[in-house]
Amino acid sequence: MTHMPRFIQLHHSNAEQIQTELLEGLATPQAHISPKYLYDELGSKLFEAITCIPEYYPTRVEASIFKAQAKALADLVPKGASLIDLGAGNCQKAANLFNVFQPARYVAVDISVAFLKGALECLQRQFPDMDMAGVGMDFSTQLQLPSELGLSPGDARVLFYPGSSIGNFTPSEALAFLKQVHACCAVNKHGGLLIGVDLVKDPRVLQAAYDDALGVTAAFNRNLLLHLNTLIGSDFKVADWAHVGLYNTDQSRIEMHLEAVREVTVTWPQGSRRFKAGERIHTENSYKWTLNGFSQLLQDAGFQQATLLTDPQQQFAVCWAPV
Ligand code: AVJ
Repeated sequence: MTHMPRFIQLHHSNAEQIQTELLEGLATPQAHISPKYLYDELGSKLFEAITCIPEYYPTRVEASIFKAQAKALADLVPKGASLIDLGAGNCQKAANLFNVFQPARYVAVDISVAFLKGALECLQRQFPDMDMAGVGMDFSTQLQLPSELGLSPGDARVLFYPGSSIGNFTPSEALAFLKQVHACCAVNKHGGLLIGVDLVKDPRVLQAAYDDALGVTAAFNRNLLLHLNTLIGSDFKVADWAHVGLYNTDQSRIEMHLEAVREVTVTWPQGSRRFKAGERIHTENSYKWTLNGFSQLLQDAGFQQATLLTDPQQQFAVCWAPV
């Protein structure tokens, strides 16, 4: 039987809601903007470029673990499962694992089905026997798979969350999110979570990964201002703002900020704000975990003892947490 991918769009972005959120973040004394706004069309391309720069090791090291541990993973992850890919994007990371996991069904989840359409149609031609679906939803706020997918209660669910995207959540948010993930795969006793996480390491290595010599991460961060200009009609000038990427040792997290290089007044239709020279807008946190800390987090979320696979230098971990 030859399948066609199905598409289900649940999330509809609300322009008014987005404006309110952004203006609130800009008005607060310690201004902040959610990292999800880094990913407009150019921002997504700049992120892809980041994954190619020498200093940004996470993407490369994660791929090396999947490759080196393919056999171990094949023994851990159940065959014939429904593979549910959270933040699937171009679907490439999951597709690389199809031969290892032999899923019966592939569900690609991202904020918009528009992102998934081309990639999923292309994959379906390569794997005509696999049942494929694309779901557009904001799983970071609530992870509830639509019943239209027709997932049978007996089929194992393997949730896939690679790339250390979990790092954007604070530890307490990460726990709440992973509890939802656990509930989603706990419909029977066969499934689990396959997740990639970046590990605590030498601050100089971390810092370089988020403040690279080519300035690609700086461009990625500063592009947020251009995206804001289109979203709220503000008049941010990129040249007025410098990229800051620093490692906060106490909180085990990378922080990205945009720092005013001189006194700046930014105006938008409903108001304006003056920023002093050196004042910052906080744009992203990227938490780093220890192996023990992450193992405990998975257990606290309700999973059984996880298997953590790392590269020889223990820069990054790929974890299988059975339900
Ligand atoms: C996509 C959230 C995993 O935190 O490393 C890369 C985003 N920010 N460089 C990360 C990012 C700056 C990335 N995540």
